Amino acid sequence: MTCKYRCGSACAHEAPNTSENAYFGDIVESVLSRRGALKASGVLALTVGGAAALTGTATASPAPTAPQARPGRGSVPGTDFAPVAPNTEDAVVTAEGYEQGIVIRWGDPVMPGAPEFDFNNQTAAAQEKQFGYNNDFAELIALDRGGNENLLVVNHEYTTETQMFAGYDESNPTEEQVRIAWAAHGLSVVFVKRQGGGLKPQPSKYNRRITLNTPFELRGPAAGSDYLKTSADQSATLVIGTQNNCAGSLTPWGTILSGEENFNQYFANTDSVTDPATKTRLARYGFTGAASTRLWEKFDKRWDLAQEPNEANRFGWIVEIDPHDPQSTPVKHTGLGRFKHEGAAIQVAKDGRVVAYSGDDERFDYIYKFVSNGKMKKGDSAFARRQNMTLLDDGTLYVAKFTGNSPAGEIDGTGKLPTDGAFDGTGEWIPLASGKKSFVPGFTAEEVYIFTRLAADQVGATKMDRPEDIQPNPVNGRVYCALTNNTNRGSAGNAPSDEANPRIGNKDGHVLEVDDDTTGTKFSWNLLLVCGDPNDPSTYFGGFDKSQVSPISCPDNVAFDRHGNLWISTDGNTLGSNDGLFAVPVDGPQRGWVKQFLSVPHGGETCGPVIRDKVVTVSVQHPGELDGASADNPLSHWPDGGNSQPRPSVVAIWRKDGGEIGQR
Ligand code: FEO
Ligand code: CA
Ligand code: CA
Repeated sequence: MTCKYRCGSACAHEAPNTSENAYFGDIVESVLSRRGALKASGVLALTVGGAAALTGTATASPAPTAPQARPGRGSVPGTDFAPVAPNTEDAVVTAEGYEQGIVIRWGDPVMPGAPEFDFNNQTAAAQEKQFGYNNDFAELIALDRGGNENLLVVNHEYTTETQMFAGYDESNPTEEQVRIAWAAHGLSVVFVKRQGGGLKPQPSKYNRRITLNTPFELRGPAAGSDYLKTSADQSATLVIGTQNNCAGSLTPWGTILSGEENFNQYFANTDSVTDPATKTRLARYGFTGAASTRLWEKFDKRWDLAQEPNEANRFGWIVEIDPHDPQSTPVKHTGLGRFKHEGAAIQVAKDGRVVAYSGDDERFDYIYKFVSNGKMKKGDSAFARRQNMTLLDDGTLYVAKFTGNSPAGEIDGTGKLPTDGAFDGTGEWIPLASGKKSFVPGFTAEEVYIFTRLAADQVGATKMDRPEDIQPNPVNGRVYCALTNNTNRGSAGNAPSDEANPRIGNKDGHVLEVDDDTTGTKFSWNLLLVCGDPNDPSTYFGGFDKSQVSPISCPDNVAFDRHGNLWISTDGNTLGSNDGLFAVPVDGPQRGWVKQFLSVPHGGETCGPVIRDKVVTVSVQHPGELDGASADNPLSHWPDGGNSQPRPSVVAIWRKDGGEIGQR
C-alpha cells in the first residue's frame, strides 16, 4: 500500500532502529538444535506440519479461497457462523444471516448545534461539532444492564486531505482546510441507543468532541520536564490536543485509554535542528525532512521544530479520557513512556495493582508494560474513577525481552508446533524507570519516559514485527499481541528472524499469546497464528486443520467476546482481497480455527472491533484509500452509494433473527 498521508502498512514506519540489541541468535541456535528443526537460507525454520521454512515471501498458490462452510459442525460458541469469502467489494460483506447498519459517519452531528455534513462547504466550526475523520479504535460503554443505552467512544486517527477536499492543493492548503483537519482529529463520545438491531446516535449531555484544540493535562513522572516546555507552556503540564489516536481500551474503572501513534508525521523542519542529541532523538522517532506533508506549520508555529523543538515531545503518549464526565480535562500519562503507542490495555493483578500493556507500532520496535504502585479502587462511582485515574501516574515501566524456549514447549518428533497449550517460549520484563528512578545507564528517569525508544535500545529489548494491539483476554487471562507485518525482517542490515518473530520478509504478520506474571518480571509465550494464505506453508493456525481456516493477513486490532474467543481486525491484507474481521477460538480442540466474519469496502481498514452478545461494531477507516484516489476521483462510494464521496464510518452488525452473535 502506498500512502503519503498515513503511517500505515508501508509508508512512514521507517524510523530506523539501528541499536545493536542481541537478537538472541545463540538462543535460536540452541532451540533449533534442540528441536531438530531446519535452518535454510538463513531463515529460522520451524517445522509446521512438515519441513517448511517460515518465509513471508512464499508465493501463495493457489489463491486463497473461503474455507468450506461447515454449518454448526464443531463450532465454538461465539464463532458459529459460515465464513465470508475473501472479496474486493465496495461494501461491508457480513456472514450470512447478519444485518448491518451505519452507526455514524464522518461529519455526522455529535454536539448540539452541529450542522448536517456538507462535503462541499465544510468548515472548521462545523467539524468541531461533528464526528471526526478516520475512525479507528471504538468502545461501547453500556449505561444500563441490557446494553440498550451506550456511550460510543471513537478515535479519529488521521486526516486524508486529498479525499476530504475537492481540488485540494497539497502545496498550498488553505487555513480553513488545516483547521478542519485539526478539528477532525482526536476522539468522539456519542450516546447511542440500540434500535432495530443496530445503534443510533442521540442528543445527550455526554456527547463530546476532543480535537487538536482540546487542552490536556500532562501528568506523571515526566510532567514539568524541561524537555516538555514550550513558549506557550513553561509549566510543561498543559498540552493542546491529541493526534494520531490509533488503538485503545476501556479501563476497568470506566475510562478510555487511547494511544498517540504516528505523531512524527505532523512536524516540519527536522532538518534545521542542529543539536546532535536532539537530532538523534528525532531520528529515532522517525522525524525527517523540511516541510511537513500537510504544511500545518504555515498556520501554527508549534508544528515547526525550528521554532518549537519540544512540541514534538508532547505527543506520543497514552491519553486517558473520562467519557462519563464531559467537563473533565483529559490526561496524557508520561509514566507509560513516549513512543508510537498503538494503544494500551489494562489487566488487574490479584493484589489490585494494574498492569498496562502497550506496543510501539514500528518495524523492529518493542513491547512495553507498566505496573502501578497503587491499587485499584473498586466501584463505579465518580470518586473511584477519579482515584483510579491517578494509577497510571505512579509505577514502573518495563520493556519485553523474549529469551527463548521453556522445556515445556519442546517440539515432539513430528515436527509440529505444540498444540496442547504448552507455552513455547519464555521472556522477561526489563525495568526502565520507576517514578524518578532510572534503571538505564546514561538516562535520567525523565529521559527514559520522554525518549523511551532510545532507553529501551540500551537494555536488550527484543525487536518485534510492528507490535499493534495488545489486549488481555478476560476469560483465560492471557495477553494477545498482534504483530502486523515486517517485510524488512531478515533483510540486509536488519534484524534476522527469531523465535518470537519467526518469518523473514514477514508480509502477513502473526499473533503472539503471552502468559504474563502480571506484576512480575517473567512471562511465557506462544505463537497462536502465523498469518497468511493457509496454502502458504509458512503459516500456522494454532495447530488447527488449515484446510478449514479463512486466509488472514496483517492482524491489527484484537478484541474478545464473552466466551474468550479472539476477534482480529486486519490492516493491509496482502492476499489480494479486502481487510476484515475474524474470530478464532484460543482454547480447546478448535484453537486456531480462524473464520472471517466480515470484510470492509476496498481501500478500507477494519478497526476497533467491539463484540457484544447481540451486536458487533467495526470502524471502517479510510474506505477507498487506493492509489490515485482523491475527492476528484473517488474510488469508493461507501457508505452512501451512487457517486458519493467515501466517508469513514462505524458500522453495526447484528443477527437478522435477533439472536446472539456466533450462535446458531
Ligand atoms: Fe494506527 Fe498501528 O495502526
Ligand atoms: Ca492499528
Ligand atoms: Ca493500522
